[in-house]
Amino acid sequence: MKILILGSSGLLGLNLALDAMSAHEVTGIDRGKLIKPPFANLKISLLDADSADQILKKTKPDWVINCAAMADIDTCEDHPELAKQLNTDMPEKFALACAEKNIRFVHISTDAVFDGNKGGFYTEEDEPSPINVYARTKLDGERAVLRANKEALVARVNFYGWSLSGRRSLAEFFFNNLSNNKSMSGFTDVLFCPTFVNHTGRLLLKMLKKKLTGLYNVVGEQTMSKYQFGVEVARKFNLKESEISPKSVLSSSLTARRSNNLSLSIHKLSTDLGKVIPSFSTGIDEFYTQFQQGYPQKMRSYQQA
Ligand SMILES: NC(=O)c1ccc[n+]([C@@H]2O[C@H](COP(=O)([O-])OP(=O)(O)OC[C@H]3O[C@@H](n4cnc5c(N)ncnc54)[C@H](OP(=O)(O)O)[C@@H]3O)[C@@H](O)[C@H]2O)c1
Repeated sequence: MKILILGSSGLLGLNLALDAMSAHEVTGIDRGKLIKPPFANLKISLLDADSADQILKKTKPDWVINCAAMADIDTCEDHPELAKQLNTDMPEKFALACAEKNIRFVHISTDAVFDGNKGGFYTEEDEPSPINVYARTKLDGERAVLRANKEALVARVNFYGWSLSGRRSLAEFFFNNLSNNKSMSGFTDVLFCPTFVNHTGRLLLKMLKKKLTGLYNVVGEQTMSKYQFGVEVARKFNLKESEISPKSVLSSSLTARRSNNLSLSIHKLSTDLGKVIPSFSTGIDEFYTQFQQGYPQKMRSYQQA
């Protein structure tokens, strides 16, 4: 298949592109951070007017996977209009353009659309209640995409892995601090379902092959706190877990409000896909194997100096 990945320099976009290129013809789009990646890549701002039609005409993909976003929660809080343009308006334009051209469109959304008050295990039927600009613009994006394109697939995700900057994911935050003998804290009262980013990408490709459409939770089955996740990273890499202090999110100085329970039910995904969702332990094992094989350094060699 010809796959167009929007946001190919991002944590999900880059890992997905590198994984998918062994079986598919991949073209990525980013704003210029990537240099000479091993797949075709175009430097384009997705905020340019009419970029969706022009990009689709030029690249002629079978599938488009939108991994581009303003994904930093506090940046969204400071730049709400830009967050809307990237997280809501841009995906809507691509969803519409793909519908007109009969191209399958996948849009990546977030577990953060929920406020956590229900106590987690949110299903696709639960009513979202976003509590910050990021979550509101992502929810509006989901809805706009599904309105514009009845065949679109929208995936609510949460993932970790190695990134271009080496600093994008929560696993890298713990790994970087621990390997530099720096102490840090981890929230004990924020729960989520951490998913290895390559598992997320492979699940998306399987869902496309199976022609699944509509809204899906696409996360791992295991729920844990951010603190516990840090401890798991420390144990896997044989680093000092005692450097991580348990802390409450209530005592943090983050700009935007956060949900305290982001765990999602994957019943719909596992039923409709008819496959076992990879476990947390296989994900963290693969994350570690990538490290041993020099994957983070290889990835960073694609970064503009
Ligand atoms: N990380 C997580 O755990 C997590 C959790 C829940 C949901 N998500 C969702 O998953 C998706 C991917 O997240 P991520 O963590 O991979 O994000 P990321 O690392 O921040 O990557 C975002 C991508 O979007 C691109 N982008 C931003 N503005 C652009 C523009 N104007 N034109 C072209 N490209 C632009 C970025 O390009 P530059 O490199 O040039 O900035 C980058 O390639 C997002 O929809 C996010 O909301 C992520």
